[in-house]
Amino acid sequence: MHILVTGGAGFIGSHTLIELYKAGHTAFVIDNLSNSNREALRRVAEIIGIPEIPFVQADIRDREALEKIFAQNSKIVNGQIVNNFDACIHFAGLKAVGESVEKPLEYYENNMNGTFVLLDVMRKHNCKNIIFSSSATVYGDPAIIPITEECPKGQCTNPYGQTKSMLEQVMTDLQKADPEWNVVLLRYFNPIGAHASGRIGENPNGIPNNLMPYITQVAVGKRERLGVFGNDYPTQDGTGVRDYIHVVDLAAAHVAALQAIERRAGLAIYNIGTGHGYSVLDVVNTFMRVNGVNIPYQIMPRRAGDIATCYCNPAKAERELGWKAQFGLDEMCRDAWNWQKNNPEGY
Ligand code: NAD
Ligand code: UFG
Repeated sequence: MHILVTGGAGFIGSHTLIELYKAGHTAFVIDNLSNSNREALRRVAEIIGIPEIPFVQADIRDREALEKIFAQNSKIVNGQIVNNFDACIHFAGLKAVGESVEKPLEYYENNMNGTFVLLDVMRKHNCKNIIFSSSATVYGDPAIIPITEECPKGQCTNPYGQTKSMLEQVMTDLQKADPEWNVVLLRYFNPIGAHASGRIGENPNGIPNNLMPYITQVAVGKRERLGVFGNDYPTQDGTGVRDYIHVVDLAAAHVAALQAIERRAGLAIYNIGTGHGYSVLDVVNTFMRVNGVNIPYQIMPRRAGDIATCYCNPAKAERELGWKAQFGLDEMCRDAWNWQKNNPEGY
């Protein structure tokens, strides 16, 4: 298939490009590089072994730019112009939870409006297949653990999460109104790790918000110690429990999700996680053991909006897509460190 990849220069997008090409697909990337670097795409091409990844630096809110991309990626069939994209994998969006609380309008505007323009241009060009990056955050404080797709959506505590929940609804309604659409909502749990080559990985701006990039920056000497946000949760050691998933496994889930489009599944929702819950201290201890580096840490107060436990039941993705996570926490910690130590300043 030929896939339009929005946000393809980012952390998950760059890893997904590799898995797409490995499976025989091709891609065209649109990214405004607001949270990423062109160098990531250069390295992706190098890993795949092609001269370059077709790419336009543009904002998905820029209708004209999107129209131009569709026009460039089209062919004439029986005298008719037919777009060449079989599907879109839609990663583009702003994702920092804390920042979204401070800048709600920017988050709603970018994530909502960007997706509206994208969907409208796709519809106009008769490309009605989309895989959307959703998040476990749509479950709020989950009613059932492990979380299945039947678990009701919950109250999101921040504008970022709201955009995911609302965009899921927008695409659900769109698919209901026009059954020609195939909409795959992938609810990611906690992606960490990096490609085994150590050439691409997570490259946050400023102080990392998320656990693993903070740990790797402590390991590389950029930060003094990790703050562990709370040790009084009702979990085995009192620290928060999450379903960490290797980003390469997550990338492969997108390739598997193309099957749902091929068989015209309509609306399909999948949890993408490993099904295992690990505490903050499990992650810290595994990182130290696997990599032989020390991670000083300090217990801090709870972080506002955090929940105690979040992990999924990923059986539906295995049953319907034949997808299952292959990597465990050891590999996630090994590959995250391999990326960070080889690229202490990121790209
Ligand atoms: P990322 O920031 O590395 O990638 C997102 C990419 O989108 C960036 O390259 C950015 O430059 C681009 N972008 C943002 N707004 C754009 C716009 N208006 N036009 C064009 N490009 C734009 O983030 P990621 O971790 O790779 O996440 C990818 C997707 O997955 C996001 O939608 C995110 O919300 C979602 N997600 C991420 C996580 C996670 O923990 N990383 C968890 C659940 C869901
Ligand atoms: N944590 C720390 N110290 C840190 C950072 C995090 O103790 O410096 C703890 C948190 O309190 C939590 C766990 O580590 O218990 C994981 O925190 P992350 O910030 O890495 O991840 P979250 O589960 O809070 O959220 C992430 C993404 C969201 C997404 C969600 C579900 O940031 O965008 O996973 O996919 F919605």
